[in-house]
Amino acid sequence: MLAGLAASIPAIPARWLYDLKGSELFDAITRLPSYYPTRTETALLKQVMPEIADAIPDGMAVVEFGAGSAAKTPLLLEAIAPAAYVPVDISGEFLESSAADLRRLFPALPIHPVAADFARPFELPAEVEELPRLGFFPGSTIGNFVPRSATDLLRHFRELLGTGALLLIGMDTVKPVERLLAAYDEPEGVTATFNLNLLERINRELGGDIPLDAFRHEARWNDILSRVEMHLVATRDVSFTIDDRPFTFAAGSSIHTENSHKYERRGARVLLLSGGWTPIAEWTDAGEDFAIVLAEAQPNRFAP
Ligand code: AVI
Repeated sequence: MLAGLAASIPAIPARWLYDLKGSELFDAITRLPSYYPTRTETALLKQVMPEIADAIPDGMAVVEFGAGSAAKTPLLLEAIAPAAYVPVDISGEFLESSAADLRRLFPALPIHPVAADFARPFELPAEVEELPRLGFFPGSTIGNFVPRSATDLLRHFRELLGTGALLLIGMDTVKPVERLLAAYDEPEGVTATFNLNLLERINRELGGDIPLDAFRHEARWNDILSRVEMHLVATRDVSFTIDDRPFTFAAGSSIHTENSHKYERRGARVLLLSGGWTPIAEWTDAGEDFAIVLAEAQPNRFAP
């Protein structure tokens, strides 16, 4: 983390945004009027779930990357006839509480939580070894990975789930810049607090003395790379230490804290194909604000 902050283009991995306070703030973001992705994806899932269910065979083990969302996961689990559900999340505590909620809703469904960072190699529980698999990756979290890492992640999912597996994935679409920026810098200021919490966390956990009032939240659209970026911009020349290591930022310079890539239809398909997943169906809402894609890990074929 400190290496990123000291780099010539200072950046901190976005996963640092999600301590307990950060996770609560993100939850609040998902309910903001201008933050369209969560609402749009949930409504879209509700609307097209009968079609999704038609495309998914009975008896699959559903492997969800990230602990289940109370709003989205039950929609899928009740529409298909899964043989097991495997939520994978780095936070054991969050995982257990969401698994407990789902056990109450689906008492007959075997649920096998796995406490792991889904972006790193891990093993599926022995109980689902023989079952066909459906990966579930909603929320457009794939957009928080730069394309190279997103491709690695998709390949890792393919490796884990095996040839013949399916993947149901949510991806955010490109739309007018004003709407994109409004979703990441809204008048309520929750996203600003979410971003600045990163500095609070560094101060608390890494022994930093960063003056929080020396930075402000900024959301930028990077058109070349098709992504919204979050930055913390120094409002004045500022010096501070983290664990006795000195850092200096000139007024106007920034720490890059998150990317949220947005995909056109073809771009989404190419990304999935690069990761070893062949899109077989896709759905969007009427405004084309969000896309849900079903893809298959088809056997490798000869290509010219
Ligand atoms: C978790 N992820 C999909 C969110 C996004 O939209 O990229 C994180 C977020 N950052 C600011 N607002 C929401």
